Amino acid sequence: MLRPTLLFSLLAASALAATSDQWRNRSIYQLVTDRFATPDGSSPSCDTSQRQYCGGTWKGVVNKLDYIQNMGFDAIWISPIVANVEGNTSYGEAYHGYWTQNINALNSHFGSADDLKALSDALHKRDMYLMVDVVVNHMAGTADPPNFSAFQPFSSQSNYHSECFISNYDNQTDVEQCWLGDKNVPLVDLDTEDSNIVSTMNSWVSTLVSNFSVDGVRIDTVKHVRKDFWPDFAKASGVFTIGEVLHNETGYVSAYTEVLDSVLDYPTWFPLVAAFQTTGGNLSALSATVQQAQSAYKNGEFMTGSFLENHDQPRFQSLTQDDALIRNAMTWPFVQDGVPIMYYGQEQSYGGGPDPANREALWLSGYVEDKPLVKHVQALNGARKAAISANSNYLTTAVKFLSSGSESTLAVSKPPMLALLTNGGSSSSPSWSVPSAGFIANEELVDVLTCNKLNADSNGGVSVQGSGGSPQVLMPVSSLSKSGNVCSDLATGGQASSARGWFGGAAESLPLIAAFLFASWAAQSSLIII
Ligand SMILES: *[C@@H]1O[C@H](CO)[C@@H](O)[C@H](O)[C@H]1NC(C)=O
Ligand SMILES: *[C@@H]1O[C@H](CO)[C@@H](O)[C@H](O)[C@H]1NC(C)=O
Ligand SMILES: *[C@@H]1O[C@H](CO)[C@@H](O)[C@H](O)[C@H]1NC(C)=O
Ligand SMILES: *[C@@H]1O[C@H](CO)[C@@H](O)[C@H](O)[C@H]1NC(C)=O
Ligand SMILES: *[C@@H]1O[C@H](CO)[C@@H](O)[C@H](O)[C@H]1NC(C)=O
Ligand SMILES: *[C@@H]1O[C@H](CO)[C@@H](O)[C@H](O)[C@H]1NC(C)=O
Ligand SMILES: *[C@@H]1O[C@H](CO)[C@@H](O)[C@H](O)[C@H]1NC(C)=O
Repeated sequence: MLRPTLLFSLLAASALAATSDQWRNRSIYQLVTDRFATPDGSSPSCDTSQRQYCGGTWKGVVNKLDYIQNMGFDAIWISPIVANVEGNTSYGEAYHGYWTQNINALNSHFGSADDLKALSDALHKRDMYLMVDVVVNHMAGTADPPNFSAFQPFSSQSNYHSECFISNYDNQTDVEQCWLGDKNVPLVDLDTEDSNIVSTMNSWVSTLVSNFSVDGVRIDTVKHVRKDFWPDFAKASGVFTIGEVLHNETGYVSAYTEVLDSVLDYPTWFPLVAAFQTTGGNLSALSATVQQAQSAYKNGEFMTGSFLENHDQPRFQSLTQDDALIRNAMTWPFVQDGVPIMYYGQEQSYGGGPDPANREALWLSGYVEDKPLVKHVQALNGARKAAISANSNYLTTAVKFLSSGSESTLAVSKPPMLALLTNGGSSSSPSWSVPSAGFIANEELVDVLTCNKLNADSNGGVSVQGSGGSPQVLMPVSSLSKSGNVCSDLATGGQASSARGWFGGAAESLPLIAAFLFASWAAQSSLIII
């Protein structure tokens, strides 16, 4: 049942990729620098449909770190930082940062090198991490044919694959060698087979990381570059790498989990959105995909970026206005195996549709913290942190789906947490019947989203009657700390870990971690649904 190569990969990963391990317990807030905060706190208008720069900067981000940290995030992912196409194009300006012209200069709209260093320093003072978005696959032109001499440092036509726009996404050669974009803004495909380009890109990412003390790299359009380009690039970065592989199949995406530390979990995102955007969405399709990913990806689902929204997809709140569906869907990334990523503005109920509508200016919200979804996110981040500290095995224990009694409910178990989700919608009164939830008989539990108490039954199961279609995230009160920020009035935590036989703080040595990974992999393998 256990494949030795997979086991070896897990051991190797835990031995070498210390940076991955440092990201494992993090929670990431994704922002578009131009749209997050202005440097002087002003609130200029920002019509997303115009696709122009609106005035956000790195200094603006520094000024709003309290806002991000108060929600419980301890990392940010910022949009690309390098110099882009200047001026207007058929698709507006390069405010999003994905239209590189010069990889060795910064985008001055967002500030200076010192401003970016100051952002990195300010994050590190708060024990927060900085993830920077990088584009390797292409440069952006403004005409067809493009002006190659405008690109730096790759200013010759011979540095690029010859012009052809991708026409067949089922042909991987086409996907890797032809161009994204169109004749208005061609995304000119770098010849990433050329050894000079490879070594330039590798040393570039290395200096980018060291110049700005970057902690992690999000890599754009990964599936458009040959797979064997990535291991050396990731190694050169020296930090955690997470790749965008926009594809709905775990079988396709899994290959990229072999060449980068991690991927954004797009295969799960598709059924996640479908499951919660309407009542009656298919929850089994979501759990089935997660189980596939758990077995197909190199590190299971553990290091994947688990997200509901990003800058490329219509916001979830453009698909439904049902508050209960929204809160259930938002809960998912925080109770799943991967590293949660939340796209800025979701907490302020932003509901922009497809690009460019989904890149609203956050200053127009006033950054109000006393809002239901802001509180929801605070509770979710707080609960995840409590689970991590209550069970040092939490982050390497794979999510299991328990029988919950109905098609419109899910019971997601990741001890000491049991998330009860539903897509019944706000007019539903969901009930979950989870006979073997794994709690201690009759133990006191709390729904960390409301701080309502309940008890496990004599078999450690739960029967829960909900209301208003709300999700519930149950944890033993003994797993919450009185000094924590989650339902601390009820918390009785302190000795929870040893009393429950969880591994306490002494589990830091490599053999023990390896044993955890082995055990969780074994547990996970037996779960594979064929
Ligand atoms: C995450 O885990 C590391 C150990 O790998 C620990 O030093 C750090 O304090 C943890 N951070 C958080 C936010 O829990
Ligand atoms: C930018 O160019 C587009 C397409 O030509 C045009 O519709 C838009 O009005 C221009 N915007 C500005 C601010 O010039
Ligand atoms: C092409 O780019 C170069 C370098 O930026 C510039 O000097 C030249 O004017 C551009 N040519 C055209 C036709 O825009
Ligand atoms: C795949 O795409 C490449 C590049 O466009 C093309 O040369 C090749 O003929 C395509 N292969 C098939 C089987 O269509
Ligand atoms: C890093 O800094 C050096 C020295 O200032 C500079 O030459 C180099 O271009 C910078 N690299 C990046 C990617 O910013
Ligand atoms: C992925 O999308 C393609 C194209 O829409 C579809 O044919 C295929 O069934 C999807 N696969 C999964 C696993 O949903
Ligand atoms: C829901 O998804 C599962 C797993 O993909 C599939 O077997 C089932 O047929 C789907 N149910 C409906 C009603 O589409």
